[in-house]
Amino acid sequence: MTEQIRIKDASQHVDQEVTINAWLTDKRSSGKIAFLQLRDGSAFFQGVVLKNAVSEEVFATAKEMRQETSMTITGVIHEDSRSHFGYEIEVHDIQVVGESEDYPITPKEHGIEFLLDHRHLWLRSKRQFAIQKIRNEMIRATYEFFNNEGFIKMDPPILTGSAPEGTTELFETEYFDKPAYLSQSGQLYAEAGAMAYGKVFTFGPVFRAEKSKTRRHLTEFWMIEPEMAFMHQAESLEIQERYIAFLVQSVIDNCEYELKLIDRDVETLKKYTKLPYPRIRYDEAIEMLQKADFDVKWGDDFGSPEETYLSDQFEQPVFVLNYPKAIKPFYMLPEAGRDDTYVCADLLAPEGYGEIIGGSEREVDYDKLKAQIVAKGLSLDEYDWYLDLRKYGSVPHSGFGLGFERAITWICHLDHLREAIPFPRMINRIKP
Ligand code: 4AD
Ligand code: MG
Repeated sequence: MTEQIRIKDASQHVDQEVTINAWLTDKRSSGKIAFLQLRDGSAFFQGVVLKNAVSEEVFATAKEMRQETSMTITGVIHEDSRSHFGYEIEVHDIQVVGESEDYPITPKEHGIEFLLDHRHLWLRSKRQFAIQKIRNEMIRATYEFFNNEGFIKMDPPILTGSAPEGTTELFETEYFDKPAYLSQSGQLYAEAGAMAYGKVFTFGPVFRAEKSKTRRHLTEFWMIEPEMAFMHQAESLEIQERYIAFLVQSVIDNCEYELKLIDRDVETLKKYTKLPYPRIRYDEAIEMLQKADFDVKWGDDFGSPEETYLSDQFEQPVFVLNYPKAIKPFYMLPEAGRDDTYVCADLLAPEGYGEIIGGSEREVDYDKLKAQIVAKGLSLDEYDWYLDLRKYGSVPHSGFGLGFERAITWICHLDHLREAIPFPRMINRIKP
């Protein structure tokens, strides 16, 4: 019996005979030789089948196999300096496991809607493979970072009665005889968690009925929401920048192969591991935009062009601090000495990717928070439990939310969020 390995471990088996379970992604052959492009879910490499070295039957199989046929192959690993993977397999035997016919995604170019219709198959292709591997590394690194920092992961509910981020983008559903909403954010529950465990983070799907079709919006996306008791905003910003730098460094360290597959420039990524990140106030951001002839006035929210312009002025991600109250949610802490701004920050990613984090210090005072809830037209009945957190040992606390697909899109330098999640949900897409 030869040892069964995965392609990614080929370097440890040079000149050994091994067995690999794989699929065929592409093939080239002539009378005497066939080149099989193989993938096994761990990496991609080439199999070489020499007519003289295998049985007639095996050579015929190699020549006839179609794209995405699955197989068990046996052969000897060799170094292959011409490919960027660096190794190939000289095939001795092929056992077909599952035939394949008319695979729709061929090596030629396909339109984006066609690829999205075939997302269940598109995930197999090189670029999509690399992106999901990088996503996975970022998941792993997130748990490592927050565990090392003494956080516990807490899972908030997905069916809720409240709308922390505004009532216009809610997915409503029936919950027996009452309406319920798919969660837009786990934050309010994370605040309850912070009062119970000190430092918590959530990591789960959230839902927003975004009516706009943009490359930065999904209707279902994943968010990481840390929440810290006894912590002011300045310290929260330090955690945010250390977390982002850690994510980037982890991808650089552990996804060298995947970054090559998507042609991501590593020198650019390295710039994002330098701390601290610059901080500017919203007030300054408005001045910068006005100087650059943007038609904005104090109080306006930023759209993509404004965020892109601002982030282009910096080499690293940049924090924009203390936005106007009118454009932010009710739970934020007002800035001391100002009656029109909150103690909050958005982190804008470089290279035109816009907001990846939104966060703030939270209002701690029971009466003020209650007044904010009423002022925003929200129902006190739904928020009585949240107000309790200010009744029994209220403390300064801060938190933030990282849009996970936004961060992946930026780190992988993708054009659109839809490639950052296995099965994207957008205004006109819920299948597959
Ligand atoms: O800025 P947002 O709305 O903040 C919150 O939800 C807070 N409760 C977070 C907190 O303080 N705990 O959303 C956070 C992040 C944004 O910065 C953005 O990266 C991402 O979520 N995001 C989206 N990502 C994909 N599709 C959408 N429709 C998104 N909306 C926001
Ligand atoms: Mg935001």
